[in-house]
Amino acid sequence: MRQKIVAGNWKMHKNAEETEDLLNELIDQLPHDVEAHIVVAPTFTNLASAVEHLEFTNIEVAAQNMHQSESGAYTGEISADMLRSIGVHLVILGHSERRAYFHETDSLLAYKVDTALKNYMKVIFCFGEELKDRQSGNHFNIVENQLRDGLFHIAKEAWANIILAYEPVWAIGTGETASPEQAQEMHLFIRETIRKSFGSDVAEDVSILYGGSVKPDNAREIFSQPDVDGGLIGGAALKAADFAAIVAAI
Ligand code: G3P
Repeated sequence: MRQKIVAGNWKMHKNAEETEDLLNELIDQLPHDVEAHIVVAPTFTNLASAVEHLEFTNIEVAAQNMHQSESGAYTGEISADMLRSIGVHLVILGHSERRAYFHETDSLLAYKVDTALKNYMKVIFCFGEELKDRQSGNHFNIVENQLRDGLFHIAKEAWANIILAYEPVWAIGTGETASPEQAQEMHLFIRETIRKSFGSDVAEDVSILYGGSVKPDNAREIFSQPDVDGGLIGGAALKAADFAAIVAAI
C-alpha cells in the first residue's frame, strides 16, 4: 500500500553506545504528528538492540543487506531468518554501494529479493544511474534495466512487500541533490514502467522513495513532487535534528 516513508540508512556508522544515543535523540526529536512511516537501518550489530529500544514507538528497524541463501557456509553473512528472529522484517537490497563495492549484480539481487519475499520480509529495493549514464542520456534505460533484471520477475501480488528507492549514484553523499524536477521525471518514468508490466493497481500502490543528498533544506520541495513518496536518507539520518526536520517536511 502506497505510503509516505522516510528511511534512514545509517550505513557503517554508530557503535552500540552511539546507536543508543541517536535512537534516544530521535525518540525525543522526531515529530509525532506526521503521516510518514519512519524507518531506521543501523548496522547488523545494532539491529537487535534497536528493535528492543524502539519497541513502543512507531519507528521500524530495517537491515541494510542480507544473504541470498537461507543458511550455509558463508562466513560473515546474515540470513533472512536471522533477521526475522530478532524482529527485523524489512531489508534494504541493491544499494549502489553494495553494487559497486561488493559487485552485487541484478541477477544476484533478483535472488536476494526472492529469498527475502520467501521469508516474509519486505524489501526497500535500491537502484539508480551513474553520472556518465545521465550525461549520455542513458539514465532511463539504465533504471529500466535495473528494475526489469532485479525485480520484474516477482509475482504481481508480491509488490505489496516492495518499496522502491531511486538513488542516482551521482547524488549519493555528494551534496549534488537531484532537482525536484529530475526526481519527479524519473519517479514518473518508474511508475509508468511498472504500469506497463504490472498494471495500474501495482503502479499506483507502490511507494517510490528518492535518495541522494536529501537534507532539511531540500526535503520539502522533493517530497512535494506527485510521484515522490518519501526519501532514503544517508548522512542526514545520522543527526537527529536533521532527520527530524526531514520527517517533518513530508
Ligand atoms: O541510502 C541512502 C543514501 O545512499 C543516501 O546518502 O548521504 O546522499 O543522503 P546521502
